[in-house]
Amino acid sequence: MTDSWTKSSWRNKPRIQMPDYPDNAALNRVEGQLSKYPPLVFAGEVRALKRKLGEAAQGEAFLLQGGDCAESFAEFTADSIRDTFKVLLQMAIVLTYGAKVPVVKVGRMAGQFAKPRSAPTEKIGDMELPSYRGDIINGFDFTPDARVPDPDRMLQAYTQAAASLNLLRAFSKGGYADMHRVHSWTLGFAEGDKAERYREMTDRISDTLDFLTAAGITSDTSKDLAQVDFFTSHEALLLEYEEALCRIDSTTGLPVAGSGHLIWIGDRTRQPDGAHVEFCAGVQNPIGLKCGPSITSDDLKRLIARLNPKNESGRLTLIARFGAGSVGDHLPRLIRAVQEEGANVLWTCDPMHGNTIKSSSGYKTRPFESVLREVREFFAVHNAEGSIPGGVHFEMTGKDVTECTGGLRAITDEDLSDRYHTACDPRLNASQSLELAYLVAEELVSRRKALAAAV
Ligand code: PEP
Ligand code: CO
Repeated sequence: MTDSWTKSSWRNKPRIQMPDYPDNAALNRVEGQLSKYPPLVFAGEVRALKRKLGEAAQGEAFLLQGGDCAESFAEFTADSIRDTFKVLLQMAIVLTYGAKVPVVKVGRMAGQFAKPRSAPTEKIGDMELPSYRGDIINGFDFTPDARVPDPDRMLQAYTQAAASLNLLRAFSKGGYADMHRVHSWTLGFAEGDKAERYREMTDRISDTLDFLTAAGITSDTSKDLAQVDFFTSHEALLLEYEEALCRIDSTTGLPVAGSGHLIWIGDRTRQPDGAHVEFCAGVQNPIGLKCGPSITSDDLKRLIARLNPKNESGRLTLIARFGAGSVGDHLPRLIRAVQEEGANVLWTCDPMHGNTIKSSSGYKTRPFESVLREVREFFAVHNAEGSIPGGVHFEMTGKDVTECTGGLRAITDEDLSDRYHTACDPRLNASQSLELAYLVAEELVSRRKALAAAV
């Protein structure tokens, strides 16, 4: 944080990917209102997450971050929150088994509403309109009215985020997250015709749980089996919203983003002197930084200095998203830049955003094979460089959508039109997400074995 940082100092920096609201008075009214509302998350929770991410950076925990590309007002139901939460917990158990360390669970939920876009406008036939930028900014419908940025949408996003968090907190602590119950859901998946490969690990998890029960460690006796800690995250793109929810932590006297536990900076808005970096530099939350192919080693060094000047553990998560086949071109030089600085960072892999293609049927999709391949490349590079692959970041949903191709229940290009519901990028469905968790767990097992053999 520089001396001149305030929650509004981003306003003096170049801003991109943010709307120009036509009605300033309405914008000011909404900002005033939001700035009086309670924060959605609390400083103590934010500090707890930072500690856990610090452990993941050391290889003593593993981060699972996942959820929608863009949350939407229309798809806001208890069922959709529950389904995504449920799959994340299933994935977490499988990953815990593979990693043999605690899995830190972070949803792209309760705030993931604003989207950066590659083009400012969208054209259908002869009509050209401003791009959809997420439900917190404008509407998805392809009409001139819907595409006008409307500040009142921030109030609706806040309400939706508050209600989502309320449910997530209840699910986390109120019995729904019981490890026995979560594992029982997974059994069905592994019993499927083509899931033989995943059966052995599933059986081992069952055996472990049976052993614990026999030893008297049950959900009744152990809070760790009955409950989970669950955190929220989103891209801090709409800075008017972030500023309005920024609060002072009464324990430390320092500013905290009250909009979510972890906030991240997107690959398009990570200019070291830009508005988004400025805002994130001054709040105490864990910060994620998307690193795509265009980031230079010098950029990364400047961003590390700017975002984590005290080299605090758990503060900075680097989210690598290069695309299958390109990880080896970029990750080694960035790992070395981090090593040269002696910087404390958590490395995670987002195998989604570098692997978006247009399918033969015209839909934007991501082949399961490319997603998996990028994860494997990420692990291989870390294994070779002696650094720590500390987590994964997925766009996924608990619903049975058809948005990414491939996976056990092979979705083809032709199937995409069946249940293609995303408001933005294509997500892994429940089965694809769980399958991927098994495959990542296999990587974690091999890595552990290789490390053990090396000592
Ligand atoms: C996202 O995570 O939805 C996103 C837009 O990612 P990126 O900034 O990496 O493109
Ligand atoms: Co996305």
